[in-house]
Amino acid sequence: GGLITLDLGFKNTASTKSAITFLDGEKGILRYRGYPIEQLAEKSTFLEVAYLLIYGELPSKNEYETFVNKVTRHTLINENIRKIFEGFPANAHPMGVLAALVSSLSAFYPRPEESSMSFEEQTDLNIIRLLAKVPTLAAWSYKNSQGHPLNYPKNNLNYCENFLHMMFALPVEDYEVDPVIARALDVLLILHADHEQNCSTSTVRIVGSSHASLYAAISAGISALWGPLHGGANQKVIEMLEMIKADGGNVKKYVELAKDKNSNFRLMGFGHRVYKNFDPRARIIKQQADNVLNKLGIKDPLLDIAKELEHAALNDDYFKERKLYPNVDFYSGIIYRAMGIPVNMFTVMFTLGRLPGWIAQWKEMRENDEPIGRPRQLYIGATEREYVPMEKR
Ligand code: CMC
Repeated sequence: GGLITLDLGFKNTASTKSAITFLDGEKGILRYRGYPIEQLAEKSTFLEVAYLLIYGELPSKNEYETFVNKVTRHTLINENIRKIFEGFPANAHPMGVLAALVSSLSAFYPRPEESSMSFEEQTDLNIIRLLAKVPTLAAWSYKNSQGHPLNYPKNNLNYCENFLHMMFALPVEDYEVDPVIARALDVLLILHADHEQNCSTSTVRIVGSSHASLYAAISAGISALWGPLHGGANQKVIEMLEMIKADGGNVKKYVELAKDKNSNFRLMGFGHRVYKNFDPRARIIKQQADNVLNKLGIKDPLLDIAKELEHAALNDDYFKERKLYPNVDFYSGIIYRAMGIPVNMFTVMFTLGRLPGWIAQWKEMRENDEPIGRPRQLYIGATEREYVPMEKR
């Protein structure tokens, strides 16, 4: 073979050519299929953005309605999957449950009678199924953790309203979805919908490159997203802010701690592999956090601590020199809290948002007929040696 270069963490290696998401980390620019994230967050809906990412163009009115109808009609879960839920302990982390259940969908779909369909037709159906069923599985994993009855989806509600209904409605009282919360959720999902070749997306593409099923690839993406250095950061941010609050709100102390390499403590929600400038999503989310809390009349001391912490870090030389800015996860948890979403569901919320991005990237990889992902290595282990019998060791 030719020269092998070592690039730990793939910091300088492009793994693919992609036409989906443009990101300029120096300037803080993010566009899906050419459309600036700011415009999409303001004017679009999550399902429209999903269509855009997956099929490459904004849908016509007719295309949009057909797409939304299909997603709405596939939200039910096979009753046998309920039985899988019953086997999980109540304190199971919903991300583990979700990864397992999405993987289990590959045992149900495509249905045997669909085997005569073309790959494209099967794919389109599986895409709709994923977009439709993952919110149901996500809400059920939460309900199960509460020991509450599971809520079936309601087809007269829109995507976000339906998710909130499945999360929060109880048989003992009336529940009406707050439109402010539903729209805020829609915006959050749009902001999370794709982010080019990040850890979970690269995972989806590499699993898919072996021609494993779409469900298997998405399940692997969910596992990758779970980690605290990736999607798990939004949960860690709230835990960190709680800790600072309990410790008297002394943000300076934690900024110092984050600078100390021996402390093993990092400012969660700060820094990014690609953004060396403000994360454009963080800007929008910060504004949304203010809006949502105002509209709901909620005063959250964690929001004040977050703002103080951001201010202290942005004015500190350590953070300035390393170009560490708040990322998408820094303020999102505060909005989720205001919506009543529990901390251990935060990364699940990220999953709902990222789903169309993963699907679009998987589809692009298959359509471009990319070769199987198979990185090389630099071997640094022992040279050849003789086997030693056990009694001589
Ligand atoms: N607090 C303190 N120091 C930091 C932080 C932080 N949050 N992030 C980076 N640094 C320092 C790091 O110690 C290093 O310093 P030095 O050059 O002196 O060794 C320098 O900044 C560069 O950091 P790095 O770890 O080499 O950068 P990376 O690109 O490998 O890591 C990151 C990126 C996001 C994993 C990292 O910034 C981090 O751990 N942040 C906290 C976790 C977090 O918020 N993750 C969410 C990322 S955005 C959404 C998502 O992906 O899900």
